[in-house]
Amino acid sequence: MSLAVAYSRARDGLRAPLVSIETHLTNGLPAFNLVGLAEAAVKESRERVRSAILNSGFEFPGRRITVNLAPADLPKEGTRFDLAIALGILAASGQIPAARLQDVECVAELALSGELRPVRAVLPAALATRAAVRELVVAAEDAGEASLVDDLVAYGAPTLTAACGHLIGTAPLLRLQPLRGERAIDNPDAPDLADVFGQYRAKRALEVAAAGGHHLLLVGPPGTGKTMLAMRLPGLLPPLTDEEAFESAAVRSLAVQGFDVAAWHHRPFRAPHHTSSAAAIIGGGAIPRPGEVSLAHHGVLFLDELPEFDRRVLEVLREPLETRHVTVSRAARQAEFPAGFQLVCAMNPCPCGYDGDSSGRCRCHGDAIKRYRERISGPLLDRIDLQIEVPRQADWSHQHQHARGESSADVRRRVAAARAVQIARQGYVNQRLSTRELQRVATLDEPGWRLLEAAVQRFGLSARGYHRILKLARTLADLEARSAIVTDDLAEALSLRCLERSASR
Ligand SMILES: Nc1ncnc2c1ncn2[C@@H]1O[C@H](COP(=O)(O)OP(=O)(O)OP(=O)(O)O)[C@@H](O)[C@H]1O
Ligand SMILES: [Mg+2]
Ligand SMILES: [Zn+2]
Repeated sequence: MSLAVAYSRARDGLRAPLVSIETHLTNGLPAFNLVGLAEAAVKESRERVRSAILNSGFEFPGRRITVNLAPADLPKEGTRFDLAIALGILAASGQIPAARLQDVECVAELALSGELRPVRAVLPAALATRAAVRELVVAAEDAGEASLVDDLVAYGAPTLTAACGHLIGTAPLLRLQPLRGERAIDNPDAPDLADVFGQYRAKRALEVAAAGGHHLLLVGPPGTGKTMLAMRLPGLLPPLTDEEAFESAAVRSLAVQGFDVAAWHHRPFRAPHHTSSAAAIIGGGAIPRPGEVSLAHHGVLFLDELPEFDRRVLEVLREPLETRHVTVSRAARQAEFPAGFQLVCAMNPCPCGYDGDSSGRCRCHGDAIKRYRERISGPLLDRIDLQIEVPRQADWSHQHQHARGESSADVRRRVAAARAVQIARQGYVNQRLSTRELQRVATLDEPGWRLLEAAVQRFGLSARGYHRILKLARTLADLEARSAIVTDDLAEALSLRCLERSASR
């Protein structure tokens, strides 16, 4: 047999298209031609494959070798195809059974020594391999990621020799045990809400944000607990469903090598620094990689010191906030990644941080304060349903003596109940209600309308602002398991939009 076909998987956004690797041996001057990869990648791959074969005690055929990777127009990074290329050569030269390669897909890099090395994006490949009803062979270090996929026959091999022993049948590898059922739903390392003293209004806002999936902005002087509060939002959200966990793990597997399998069921929390580039936030690269907005998919994206972020960064957030997706284009390539995150932002009220503080120590000019706040564009603010002040607490030392407040688990129970109501009613959380849907699910009685009318007059609410109040009121009623929105809900909703009011004052 001088022809063999092996299979591997490329990565293309979250997809993992099949790559067929055909190996042909013919008589003639010894040569090793690799077709279908970028030139630089070809050279390196040839080196690794040749050395690995020789160092594993196999024979490197002294004939004319042609390896063709198809289709030709896939984004193909060289390294993940190494194992399949080596096995193809060994099969074409009769050193392992070629027929066996028909039911196997291989995604692993080779070291010169013949050891298998881990690669990115094993999870999307594993899902695709299962759909194709083949077995998957990966590096031992990638075994955890592959074993997230139920009903997949997968093996983690330490070396090329081990992979060959398995395919020949002389030394079968142990099938990886699926990890499902063993995962920890609760994250024991997650910070707890009980650690935050006082700040009852802010905690209430956090609960409402969790219950309705609303974006949240916290405004206050330094050291009042804004960052503490934001970090506790993931712990108030229900655990990821299996489907959500897969999606967010798949995104992570594109960005990081060997992600933490034990944590795969935890809600993501991403807190990029304000010096991050637009590409880091939104995604980018020659082979497009997901950015922070996608790594936060199904979780929380926290932007601390919001006005310090580059304005362009804040502008590019608008697309994912609207569509829950991002499109990353670079040269001829485009990739779409999911980006359904919940946004939490924190900022000081003015450049020095103490505007409005009872200490009266702020000396910032009115103009400076205005410019500072204007760094955050109206359209972005418009999408943040909840905007609240987190003031300095006067009786701070006193708070310490108080019993610990409610734990995250307590609040999470109420949040879960309120979310269940929303899912049953409209299929998703209130944050995503369209204006039309809102009219259907958030009807008001006569006193309710009167109160809202008065607020529109008093605060000069925009149409957008008006809808946001209704949306928040819907969530507040859902937290009480009430189908009707009452005036108390509206009044509290109005109090949860402080910036809108101070801006129009
Ligand atoms: N309500 C609180 N309960 C317990 N500790 C608090 C509280 N507020 C502040 N702290 C303490 O103060 C520290 C600073 O809090 P945090 O970083 O959350 O403030 P911040 O509002 O984000 O400030 P900055 O505006 O400077 O970023 C915390 O590490 C914590 O020890
Ligand atoms: Mg902070
Ligand atoms: Zn100031």
